[in-house]
Amino acid sequence: MNTLCIISGSIRPNALTRRIALHLHQQLVARNSYQISNVDLASFEFPIWKEVFQNDPDPPRHCRKLHSELAASDAFLLVSPEYNGSYSLAIKNLIDYYEPNLFSRKAIGIATVSTGRLGGIRSALQLQQLCLAIYAVPVPQMLLVPDAHRRFDDNGQLLDESFSKQVTHFLEEFLWYGHALYQARTNLPVGLP
Ligand SMILES: Cc1cc2nc3c(=O)[nH]c(=O)nc-3n(C[C@H](O)[C@H](O)[C@H](O)COP(=O)(O)O)c2cc1C
Repeated sequence: MNTLCIISGSIRPNALTRRIALHLHQQLVARNSYQISNVDLASFEFPIWKEVFQNDPDPPRHCRKLHSELAASDAFLLVSPEYNGSYSLAIKNLIDYYEPNLFSRKAIGIATVSTGRLGGIRSALQLQQLCLAIYAVPVPQMLLVPDAHRRFDDNGQLLDESFSKQVTHFLEEFLWYGHALYQARTNLPVGLP
């Protein structure tokens, strides 16, 4: 497994979600083994789709670029805020826009972010379902970040050191599934699709 993609799924200015995506990025960079692409859905004008990418004769350039980035990724980290008991519209828009085979048979680690006490558990559980719908494999270990404003600063640094164990465990599980599925995809016995 070479290329990981971290998707930060809040488009709010000063999103807390970005802090956690940044922290996960820093932790993965420290492992020195992966190429990492960061997709911050706030950083570009991603249109609410009216037609899916593959049916659009002339998709915007940045959408084509992102398509290539997603296709080249071996596994994903999906970081979402919880809004009204669910994940962000920006994430659903992205997933519905592109074809499922960009994600299928790849590991997706789910991290959710909330200023409340439950860490976005409802959005996390719904994201597991979304992953299954696109034939991806949601990593069973999720990272729920309650009281996110107190746990990470703007630069993605942990303010609450006691939380680092959970981050490490989450990333280890994510990498395990990422590698296992990558191996399975690339070393299939002849005859299997
Ligand atoms: C429209 C809206 C709905 C929200 N709904 C929830 C919710 O259902 N559960 C929760 O724990 N927090 C909820 N919150 C609080 C968010 O967890 C908090 O605003 C967090 O900072 C959102 O992440 P973001 O800063 O990355 O956008 C909601 C916030 C907004 C703006």
